[in-house]
Amino acid sequence: AKLLVLHGPNLNMLGVREPGHYGADTLDSINQGLINTAKQAGHQLEAFQSNAEHLLIDRIHQSHGEIDFIIFNPAAFTHTSIALRDALLAVSIPFIEVHLSNVHARESFRHKSWFSDIAIGVICGLGPKGYQLALASALERLAKPAS
Ligand code: DQA
Repeated sequence: AKLLVLHGPNLNMLGVREPGHYGADTLDSINQGLINTAKQAGHQLEAFQSNAEHLLIDRIHQSHGEIDFIIFNPAAFTHTSIALRDALLAVSIPFIEVHLSNVHARESFRHKSWFSDIAIGVICGLGPKGYQLALASALERLAKPAS
Protein backbone atom coordinates (compact mmCIF):
# COMPACT_ATOMS: atom_id res chain seq x y z
CA ALA A 1 0.00 0.00 0.00
CA LYS A 2 0.97 3.65 -0.29
CA LEU A 3 1.10 5.90 2.75
CA LEU A 4 1.61 9.63 3.01
CA VAL A 5 2.97 11.51 6.01
CA LEU A 6 1.92 15.15 5.88
CA HIS A 7 3.52 17.82 8.03
CA GLY A 8 2.13 21.33 8.41
CA PRO A 9 3.79 24.70 9.00
CA ASN A 10 7.00 25.19 11.00
CA LEU A 11 7.67 21.47 11.29
CA ASN A 12 10.61 21.97 8.90
CA MET A 13 12.19 23.70 11.92
CA LEU A 14 12.14 20.60 14.13
CA GLY A 15 15.40 20.15 16.01
CA VAL A 16 15.79 23.92 16.25
CA ARG A 17 12.29 24.97 17.22
CA GLU A 18 11.23 25.02 20.91
CA PRO A 19 12.95 21.71 21.79
CA GLY A 20 11.14 21.71 25.16
CA HIS A 21 7.88 21.15 23.30
CA TYR A 22 9.02 19.38 20.15
CA GLY A 23 12.26 17.51 21.01
CA ALA A 24 15.64 17.41 19.28
CA ASP A 25 14.91 15.16 16.29
CA THR A 26 14.87 16.73 12.83
CA LEU A 27 12.00 16.24 10.42
CA ASP A 28 14.33 14.37 8.05
CA SER A 29 15.28 11.85 10.72
CA ILE A 30 11.62 11.31 11.65
CA ASN A 31 10.68 10.84 8.00
CA GLN A 32 13.57 8.47 7.33
CA GLY A 33 12.55 6.29 10.26
CA LEU A 34 8.98 6.09 8.93
CA ILE A 35 10.12 5.35 5.37
CA ASN A 36 12.31 2.50 6.67
CA THR A 37 9.57 0.99 8.83
CA ALA A 38 7.06 1.07 5.96
CA LYS A 39 9.59 -0.42 3.54
CA GLN A 40 10.39 -3.29 5.93
CA ALA A 41 6.67 -4.06 6.07
CA GLY A 42 6.50 -4.14 2.27
CA HIS A 43 4.77 -0.75 1.86
CA GLN A 44 5.71 2.59 0.36
CA LEU A 45 5.73 5.78 2.38
CA GLU A 46 6.22 9.32 1.17
CA ALA A 47 6.62 12.45 3.29
CA PHE A 48 5.58 16.01 2.46
CA GLN A 49 5.93 19.18 4.51
CA SER A 50 4.67 22.62 3.64
CA ASN A 51 4.23 25.95 5.34
CA ALA A 52 1.52 26.82 2.82
CA GLU A 53 -2.06 25.73 3.43
CA HIS A 54 -2.87 25.50 -0.29
CA LEU A 55 0.10 23.20 -0.99
CA LEU A 56 -1.10 20.82 1.72
CA ILE A 57 -4.60 20.96 0.22
CA ASP A 58 -3.19 20.27 -3.26
CA ARG A 59 -1.16 17.29 -1.94
CA ILE A 60 -4.31 15.86 -0.33
CA HIS A 61 -6.24 16.26 -3.61
CA GLN A 62 -3.41 14.55 -5.55
CA SER A 63 -3.63 11.66 -3.09
CA HIS A 64 -7.09 10.74 -4.35
CA GLY A 65 -6.84 7.27 -5.89
CA GLU A 66 -3.11 7.18 -5.15
CA ILE A 67 -2.67 7.05 -1.36
CA ASP A 68 -4.30 4.50 0.95
CA PHE A 69 -3.58 6.11 4.30
CA ILE A 70 -2.43 9.48 5.64
CA ILE A 71 -0.60 10.31 8.85
CA PHE A 72 -1.10 14.03 9.42
CA ASN A 73 0.38 16.60 11.75
CA PRO A 74 -1.46 19.75 10.63
CA ALA A 75 0.60 21.81 13.15
CA ALA A 76 -0.95 25.26 13.69
CA PHE A 77 -3.51 24.55 10.92
CA THR A 78 -4.98 21.99 13.35
CA HIS A 79 -6.64 24.84 15.15
CA THR A 80 -7.64 26.97 12.16
CA SER A 81 -8.12 25.14 8.89
CA ILE A 82 -11.60 24.15 7.80
CA ALA A 83 -10.17 24.07 4.26
CA LEU A 84 -7.78 21.23 5.12
CA ARG A 85 -10.57 19.42 6.93
CA ASP A 86 -12.74 19.71 3.82
CA ALA A 87 -9.88 18.44 1.61
CA LEU A 88 -9.61 15.28 3.70
CA LEU A 89 -13.38 14.79 3.57
CA ALA A 90 -13.29 15.30 -0.21
CA VAL A 91 -10.82 12.47 -0.83
CA SER A 92 -12.13 10.27 2.01
CA ILE A 93 -8.71 8.78 2.74
CA PRO A 94 -8.44 7.42 6.29
CA PHE A 95 -5.98 9.33 8.46
CA ILE A 96 -4.46 9.51 11.91
CA GLU A 97 -3.81 12.93 13.48
CA VAL A 98 -0.45 13.26 15.24
CA HIS A 99 1.00 15.98 17.44
CA LEU A 100 4.43 15.87 19.02
CA SER A 101 3.37 17.89 22.06
CA ASN A 102 0.39 17.32 24.34
CA VAL A 103 -1.79 20.06 22.91
CA HIS A 104 -4.29 19.64 25.77
CA ALA A 105 -1.64 20.60 28.33
CA ARG A 106 -0.88 23.84 26.47
CA GLU A 107 -2.71 27.07 25.62
CA SER A 108 -6.48 26.76 25.31
CA PHE A 109 -6.36 27.76 21.61
CA ARG A 110 -4.56 24.44 20.98
CA HIS A 111 -7.36 22.40 22.54
CA LYS A 112 -9.61 22.77 19.48
CA SER A 113 -8.84 20.56 16.47
CA TRP A 114 -10.73 20.69 13.18
CA PHE A 115 -9.53 17.13 12.45
CA SER A 116 -9.98 14.92 15.50
CA ASP A 117 -13.66 14.06 14.92
CA ILE A 118 -13.01 12.88 11.35
CA ALA A 119 -9.71 11.09 12.11
CA ILE A 120 -9.41 7.34 12.71
CA GLY A 121 -7.51 8.27 15.86
CA VAL A 122 -5.39 10.96 17.45
CA ILE A 123 -1.96 10.68 19.08
CA CYS A 124 -0.45 13.59 20.98
CA GLY A 125 2.22 14.24 23.57
CA LEU A 126 4.46 11.30 22.75
CA GLY A 127 7.01 13.18 20.65
CA PRO A 128 8.36 11.64 17.42
CA LYS A 129 7.38 8.18 18.70
CA GLY A 130 3.79 9.21 18.02
CA TYR A 131 4.41 9.02 14.26
CA GLN A 132 5.80 5.47 14.59
CA LEU A 133 2.80 4.43 16.70
CA ALA A 134 0.46 5.91 14.09
CA LEU A 135 2.32 4.04 11.35
CA ALA A 136 2.12 0.75 13.28
CA SER A 137 -1.63 1.21 13.59
CA ALA A 138 -1.98 2.17 9.91
CA LEU A 139 -0.03 -0.90 8.79
CA GLU A 140 -2.19 -3.13 10.98
CA ARG A 141 -5.34 -1.65 9.43
CA LEU A 142 -4.01 -1.97 5.88
CA ALA A 143 -3.33 -5.66 6.54
CA LYS A 144 -6.93 -6.13 7.66
CA PRO A 145 -9.03 -3.87 5.42
CA ALA A 146 -12.32 -5.37 6.60
CA SER A 147 -11.96 -4.27 10.23
C1 DQA B 1 1.81 20.62 16.95
C2 DQA B 1 0.95 21.37 17.97
C3 DQA B 1 0.35 22.65 17.37
O1 DQA B 1 -0.44 23.32 18.34
C4 DQA B 1 1.46 23.58 16.93
O2 DQA B 1 0.92 24.72 16.30
C5 DQA B 1 2.47 22.93 16.07
C6 DQA B 1 2.87 21.54 16.33
C7 DQA B 1 2.56 19.43 17.57
O3 DQA B 1 3.06 18.59 16.82
O4 DQA B 1 2.67 19.35 18.79
O5 DQA B 1 3.03 23.55 15.17
O6 DQA B 1 0.97 20.12 15.92
